Amino acid sequence: MILLKNVSKIYPPNVVGIEGINLHVKPGEFISIVGRSGTGKSTLAKLLFAEERPSRGKIEIGGWDITNIKDHDVPMLRRQIGVVFQDYKLLQKKTVYENVAFALQVAGATARHIRDVVPLVLNIVNLHDKYDRYPKQLSGGEQQRVAIARSLVHQPKVLVADEPTGNLDTLNAREIMDLLAKINEFGTTVVLVTHDRDIVNRLRRRVITLEDGKIVSDVEEGRYKL
Ligand SMILES: Nc1ncnc2c1ncn2[C@@H]1O[C@H](COP(=O)(O)OP(=O)(O)OP(=O)(O)O)[C@@H](O)[C@H]1O
Ligand SMILES: [Mg+2]
Repeated sequence: MILLKNVSKIYPPNVVGIEGINLHVKPGEFISIVGRSGTGKSTLAKLLFAEERPSRGKIEIGGWDITNIKDHDVPMLRRQIGVVFQDYKLLQKKTVYENVAFALQVAGATARHIRDVVPLVLNIVNLHDKYDRYPKQLSGGEQQRVAIARSLVHQPKVLVADEPTGNLDTLNAREIMDLLAKINEFGTTVVLVTHDRDIVNRLRRRVITLEDGKIVSDVEEGRYKL
């Protein structure tokens, strides 16, 4: 589902983001990417959803070579990859419903399709009773659930979450993790970037540790050791 061959990202003038990364993630896997601050976790995530392009190497998502993907093809990629961030990135002037609907509108969905899909994804994240709230009127956990609902509108094959629980307390973080596990059970491949030892150890799934832009360990049912 995800294939990186000898991928490096060097930021100008010569800052190493990641270096010589080889990675194969099979459909339906749930992987965690861990490592100290500045080791290239977000860089790796950004390469997957083409917010950045690699300096060297090759990247394939679902058999599609996105190494040199053109800007005008990125929206098509984003329909196959859902993305969730630490800071939610919701539109403050739109309601819960509108935030989710907007992701479909910009992709040219019909009004009918939007009416069908928005309640569906808001149900998955258990926010069916908060359609008309604005982000400011929601807790952090609820805001993240809206962001996750939004990431699901195109039924992505892959979900990339960069520190999705970074702003949440333990209880809310666990709820978000349960949700990611549920989404993974439905068949979506999940790539989770996290600092959270507790989360990684509870998951008991594949753990990839980065150090100075390189993979230093890749373990099935791994534990967080730094
Ligand atoms: N746009 C950029 N321009 C220049 N250097 C960058 C840029 N983005 C990241 N870097 C550098 O690349 C390296 C990897 O950064 P990255 O954001 O991938 O780390 P990270 O593992 O996600 O860190 P954190 O845990 O703090 O989020 C760091 O040295 C960082 O300073
Ligand atoms: Mg980061």
